[in-house]
Amino acid sequence: MTERVKLAIVGCGGMGRRHLAGLAELARSDHNNVELVAVCDLNRQNAEDMADEAESLLGANVRVFGDAAQMVREVEGLQAADCTTDTGSHHKAATALLDLGLHTMCEKPLALTIRGCDLIMAAAARSGKVLSVAENYRRDPINRLIRALLDDGAIGARQFMLDASVRGKDDMFITPWRHQKLHGALTLDAGVHYADILQYYFGDPETVYGKVRLYEPTRVVRRTAGPGGFYEKWAGKLPPTVEATGEDAMFGLITFANGTLGQWTDHYAGHGEPFSRRMVYGTRGSLACPGDRNGRPVRLMLDDGVAIADERILDYAPSYRLDPTAAALFGGERVWTYDFDFPTTDRKLLALEYQEFAACIRTGTQPEVTGAVAKRAVALVYALFESDRSGRPVTIAEIESVALDGYQREIDEYLGLV
Ligand SMILES: NC(=O)c1ccc[n+]([C@@H]2O[C@H](COP(=O)([O-])OP(=O)(O)OC[C@H]3O[C@@H](n4cnc5c(N)ncnc54)[C@H](O)[C@@H]3O)[C@@H](O)[C@H]2O)c1
Repeated sequence: MTERVKLAIVGCGGMGRRHLAGLAELARSDHNNVELVAVCDLNRQNAEDMADEAESLLGANVRVFGDAAQMVREVEGLQAADCTTDTGSHHKAATALLDLGLHTMCEKPLALTIRGCDLIMAAAARSGKVLSVAENYRRDPINRLIRALLDDGAIGARQFMLDASVRGKDDMFITPWRHQKLHGALTLDAGVHYADILQYYFGDPETVYGKVRLYEPTRVVRRTAGPGGFYEKWAGKLPPTVEATGEDAMFGLITFANGTLGQWTDHYAGHGEPFSRRMVYGTRGSLACPGDRNGRPVRLMLDDGVAIADERILDYAPSYRLDPTAAALFGGERVWTYDFDFPTTDRKLLALEYQEFAACIRTGTQPEVTGAVAKRAVALVYALFESDRSGRPVTIAEIESVALDGYQREIDEYLGLV
């Protein structure tokens, strides 16, 4: 068997722990191509705890570091790193890992600003190493199926997409930094997932008109365990409230390069009845999409009376095939529904990210979510912000080239990038 890619996890917070569960999932499969050999975190305790967890989950005796450069000097044969540090540190941490000669998988969003994305992409180009961005939502088999339905013309030609979520009240979301403009506000940190889904379904966005708001300047700490309970161990250290500086709601109208339209609402301060809907309309029908990581079926409705939300939907997606690892983890090549709890689904999707990353290192191929793809998702989020700031529709080209950076400039100044 080919040797496994020797890898370190850098960033041992909540998502680092979730990634470790993903590695364990991959290790239990017949598709394992990764070996965890080290963990690294500026916070020594977080790194030590994760090494203990790696021992119990993987039976691995991993080395613990507080400094990535020392780790590269001391761990023989280390080839790759998984950068799961907080969003505001990606531009430094991922750049350093690439410059240290490690293939790097970086959590989404690629960076806190477009300039930050450019820095990481330049490091990847300099080092010639693989840069993969860990965007998990599009890897959900149900999203793969929807993409195949669209590509195979199930609803005719793409016309319009609505993606809208309203929830959150004044709850603090997961960590205090997710409410800080200078560290990665929710609208970027979580919103970038939906930006990626928009581009995954409909292709490159071209122009955007947007409005953003900060509705809840004080967030109350209520639920502290985070998704899957992975943040429970830090719960005792959280303050009762968090002063928010980052916008918590965004509203946008998007024109895609192929002429189609998208309407996007991502509102993390909604009161009353939560609302979540993702609908795709084509020239012959619609797809009601269930959202991400829940395994619920897609509903197809056609003008000729067809209404399907069961296995027969596969007849409309002849090209749909999961890759062998996804098929093994989710129970078949043409999965149209699945029923796992959140932690199980989560770790299966993260296992897929690792498998693809290591395969790219082995074969010298590019991953699905390259720096450029991930930067475009960040640009789509900031297009809404920069449109609001400038009071006009903006182009993605203006955002990607940093010709328009009125909103981001304060962040870039804080990060020392201008
Ligand atoms: N894909 C998803 O579904 C998903 C879900 C949650 C988080 N994330 C992403 O994962 C990343 C991490 O989020 P989190 O919730 O785990 O954050 P967190 O605050 O819980 O943990 C971050 C960890 O990184 C460490 N760190 C910071 N800078 C470092 C550096 N230069 N070197 C080494 N360690 C460093 C911190 O000490 C901390 O332990 C974020 O980018 C976030 O957007 C993705």
